Amino acid sequence: MCGIIGYIGPQSTVEVLLGGLKRLEYRGYDSAGIATAHDGTLHVLRSQGKLDNLERQVGSRPMEGHYGLGHTRWATHGRPNEENAHPHRDCTKTLVVVHNGIIENYLDLKSRLSAEGHRFVTETDTEVIAHLLEKHFRSDLEQAVMETLKELDGVFAFATLSARQPDTLVGARNGPPLVVGLGEGESFLASDIPAFLSHTRSVMYLDDGEVAVLTPDGLRLVSHEGKEIKREPARITWDPIQVEKQGYKHFMLKEINEQPRAVRDTLLGRYSLDTGRIHLDETGLDDDSLKRTRKISLIACGTSWHAALVGKFLIENIARIPVEVDIASEFRYRNPILGPDDLVVGISQSGETADTLAALKATRDRGVTTLAICNVLGSMATRICTGTLYTHAGPEIGVASTKSFTTQLVALYLLAFKLAQIRGHLSPEESQNVLAEIARAAHVMEQTLLLAETLEGIAREFHLASNFLYLARGPLYPIALEGALKLKELSYIHAEGYPAGEMKHGPIALIDGRMPVVVLALTGLLFEKTANNIQEAKARGARIIAFATEGDRRLEQILDEDRDHLVFLPEHPELISPLIAVVPLQLLAYHISVARGCDVDQPRNLAKSVTVE
Ligand code: G6P
Repeated sequence: MCGIIGYIGPQSTVEVLLGGLKRLEYRGYDSAGIATAHDGTLHVLRSQGKLDNLERQVGSRPMEGHYGLGHTRWATHGRPNEENAHPHRDCTKTLVVVHNGIIENYLDLKSRLSAEGHRFVTETDTEVIAHLLEKHFRSDLEQAVMETLKELDGVFAFATLSARQPDTLVGARNGPPLVVGLGEGESFLASDIPAFLSHTRSVMYLDDGEVAVLTPDGLRLVSHEGKEIKREPARITWDPIQVEKQGYKHFMLKEINEQPRAVRDTLLGRYSLDTGRIHLDETGLDDDSLKRTRKISLIACGTSWHAALVGKFLIENIARIPVEVDIASEFRYRNPILGPDDLVVGISQSGETADTLAALKATRDRGVTTLAICNVLGSMATRICTGTLYTHAGPEIGVASTKSFTTQLVALYLLAFKLAQIRGHLSPEESQNVLAEIARAAHVMEQTLLLAETLEGIAREFHLASNFLYLARGPLYPIALEGALKLKELSYIHAEGYPAGEMKHGPIALIDGRMPVVVLALTGLLFEKTANNIQEAKARGARIIAFATEGDRRLEQILDEDRDHLVFLPEHPELISPLIAVVPLQLLAYHISVARGCDVDQPRNLAKSVTVE
């Protein structure tokens, strides 16, 4: 939801800003803009649409300066046109602001500032920040920011630069992320680390309620109340090469193919096959409190919510603890019943999804233990929660989640095993068996990825369909939901995921000769029941794309060679089916999207991190 980048240093500011925005474009791509300070003047360039448009403008109108700000927008307030593109200016055009989030009291502020004579030229909420800064600026930008913060309500991160004090960048955080990068004689301010990862791996996260003041002399961190904060920078292990496409046509395809590596990394060092022990000490949750846990709530949004749905199956089946699953935006407003011995687990790739954070904060404030399953080191979710179980997917750039989903599943398997061991539901020997099965997952995924060509062929055949139905049962039902979501997000084809047994209670009415029905019918997992559902769909004319397990040829008797498709997934233990079955559905959605000429990595209207409600 909007990406911010700021730079102070000797390099070409415009190049640094554009490079940073390229890495932040996953956060929104409705418009982009940059501003630099040079010779006491601010130079601003903005463009509607993707960053390419801005880059073209920069090519024809070079900008100088060693201080600058950039922004890529996901529109909330105001249409996605050039006028509403950031950076926004005050009346004097001597200061600029870039902003991520929502200023909730902007209408009140706008009418008050208008009455005081300020002229508004955009439809955005952000513009009030520029005018407030103008109003409060006497001789120091930091002081103007402090005064301005007192008047703003909402969740926001912003950064500002003034021609009247051009050697200073100030950023403030109250919700959405801001992170400082500290290089040799240069500093960066950004919404996310990949924005400056090719320049430095030394980072400092801002907490809520903090302000960063960047000057050529370095960084000063202060609270919104003006109290000095001392913090050591953290060193990021992500490699800059990880945020490149490395020869793949799209980030999404690269990230789908990275899943075996990501799964291995997420398992690494967390179990011993010899003893069957699981090591999750890093979460900070002690065995006694896990043993006392009476109920678990899994909360998340989007694809992470689908991981939570699989997590319910895993934890209930393996550890025998009741699990509730909630969409975070529902959980936070439904006054859930929580007890002192409950555990609330927030699942979030980014660790910055506004609804998930709000739900976790509300839970923490009620004194309930919270655990984050998260991919981004030091992100807000990890700061709110009692403990964190990191996934090690590495940076995910494609807007549609892939490797973050499978690594979330791995984290949930580990949590389920750990809980089961502590509560006496898994003996050391049984633990060794399930761990051996999960240890095979990466290898089976590698074999599954070899189906890419088959799926590309199926995609070419079905890419003009208007509707898809995805069916599955048990722990594969969330995978059907995820397959349908991937297809909707990437190709704009309407798709629904349904528990196969529920098909006859509604979706069956949609089925006709034009409707492809994707069915996960793996061995075990209620195969016969799912096969019956395939028959029911076929009886109404559906064309079936079925996924079965290698060696199990029963569906061949049901399916028509000339109308249907039967794709065999490599033989694997039933326990890891959710991890394996999602891979071909990701590939199917990817290839359908490519066949339709859609923008795979940046689907319309979406953003990777949703930092507003
Ligand atoms: C957005 C993204 C999804 C993601 C969801 C939750 O909708 O487009 O891919 O699953 O947010 O994000 P999180 O970072 O909390 O997992």
